[in-house]
Amino acid sequence: MKTEFAPSLLSADFSQLKEELKSVKEADYLHFDVMDGVYVPNITFGPTLIKALRSHSDLPFDTHLMITKPERYIKEFAEAGSDILTVHVEATEHVHRVIQMIKEMGIKAGCSLNPATPLEGLKYLLPDLDQILIMSVNPGFGGQAYIPQITEKIKSLSKIIKENNYDCKIEVDGGIKTHNLKTIVDAGADIIVAGSAIFGQEEPAAALAEMRRIADNG
Ligand code: DX5
Ligand code: ZN
Repeated sequence: MKTEFAPSLLSADFSQLKEELKSVKEADYLHFDVMDGVYVPNITFGPTLIKALRSHSDLPFDTHLMITKPERYIKEFAEAGSDILTVHVEATEHVHRVIQMIKEMGIKAGCSLNPATPLEGLKYLLPDLDQILIMSVNPGFGGQAYIPQITEKIKSLSKIIKENNYDCKIEVDGGIKTHNLKTIVDAGADIIVAGSAIFGQEEPAAALAEMRRIADNG
């Protein structure tokens, strides 16, 4: 399967998001980082922004909720136009219930794990998940360095998914650049989130094309 790319708007120019969206129309998804200032030490945006941008892109909206008790807002983010909603397993006491809530909205469900969260508990969630988002930095900010030991975590998760034939993609988020991309793809990443490596560049479209080339050919 070809590697898919989800540029993160966190590193885009917020004063011209419409244009920024157009610059990555060759991507596979658009990644929206929602932060509440409680679960992570940063605040970004809510469903209003996602709704406002929905008609300006044909790409699936991949919404990464870094908010505490995400069950309070599943309906709002789904109705705003998210195609995939990912919640942090650490942010809710009833993650399985939240996954069901997402699916009841008729969209895809993902779970995210912080760098220090082990894979163990996933065993009981994997049959119900469309994707697992492995954080390769501590969530909250763009432009941080990739945590190298996460490569091992991606490999372990990939093995579990293959052995059990689960229909679940691995998305990796944080610190992915041209120099470490191939290692992360080879470890088993299906979807690459990249913020600064795409929107932090002069030409986001060219940066995305170059990442695709590396992922496909090395
Ligand atoms: C961080 C976010 C990421 C962020 C990645 O909490 O989840 O999606 O935008 O940014 P880069 O690619 O710059 O590390
Ligand atoms: Zn993210």
